[in-house]
Amino acid sequence: MTLLAVRSLEAGYGRTSVVRGVDLDVAQGEMVALVGPNGAGKSTLLKAIAGVATILGGTATLDGADLVPLPAAARAKAGAVFMPQERNIFRTLSVAENLAVSAWGRRDVAQRRNDVVALLPAIGDYLHKRAGGLSGGQRQMVGLAMALMARPKLLLVDEPTAGLSPLLVGDMLDILRRLAEEAELGILIVEQNARAALQRAGRALVLVDGHVVRTGEAARLAEEPDFGALFFGETA
Ligand SMILES: Nc1ncnc2c1ncn2[C@@H]1O[C@H](COP(=O)(O)OP(=O)(O)O)[C@@H](O)[C@H]1O
Ligand SMILES: [Mg+2]
Repeated sequence: MTLLAVRSLEAGYGRTSVVRGVDLDVAQGEMVALVGPNGAGKSTLLKAIAGVATILGGTATLDGADLVPLPAAARAKAGAVFMPQERNIFRTLSVAENLAVSAWGRRDVAQRRNDVVALLPAIGDYLHKRAGGLSGGQRQMVGLAMALMARPKLLLVDEPTAGLSPLLVGDMLDILRRLAEEAELGILIVEQNARAALQRAGRALVLVDGHVVRTGEAARLAEEPDFGALFFGETA
């Protein structure tokens, strides 16, 4: 079932377009990877869907509902939740308090927190520790848990493995893949570790200079001979 449908999307900042002509679908339970070189517009595309960057043309619907006229908060409420690259974790607060903050104004904070811990059991081990004292990997997990507190249908994740060791990169991507399947989330993930992401994603898009230049089954894309050249500058 299609959750997110994006057609002919043009988006950017102010009147300047950064991405153009983007078509993209994410189904419930599916993880879709968005890869490409630095500056290609990957973050801009996520932000445009989340309502943080400007949509200049085209359409974006979630479960058939038009996202375009909605401000960012309303898109999150509708189920499209953005996990930005700069995670807004309060270092002086405990993990539990951070989770409560991200569900501010909800009546069922404790229930939501229990649900999130059930999905990410590791969080339970450091729920009452100060967020500032956690390892980088644990902080990324808190960022993910904070996004899950909103009970998203669609998770828009920007480089969740930034700064992690190669082992933790794989762990984080495995967790996201499992979340997509178990919690029946749609996940659109931007990832610098392109090959690691393509190993776990169902489908993938390669964005270069604001345009989708390749799309298809993730595992197959990684095997295309010119894949490395597309954005690593590797020779095939
Ligand atoms: N807040 C902003 N205002 C204006 N231009 C921006 C802003 N953020 C990014 N850009 C520009 O948009 C282009 C794409 O950036 P970005 O989406 O961050 O690429 P990626 O995530 O693929 O590295 C870049 O040329 C960048 O300079
Ligand atoms: Mg980016």
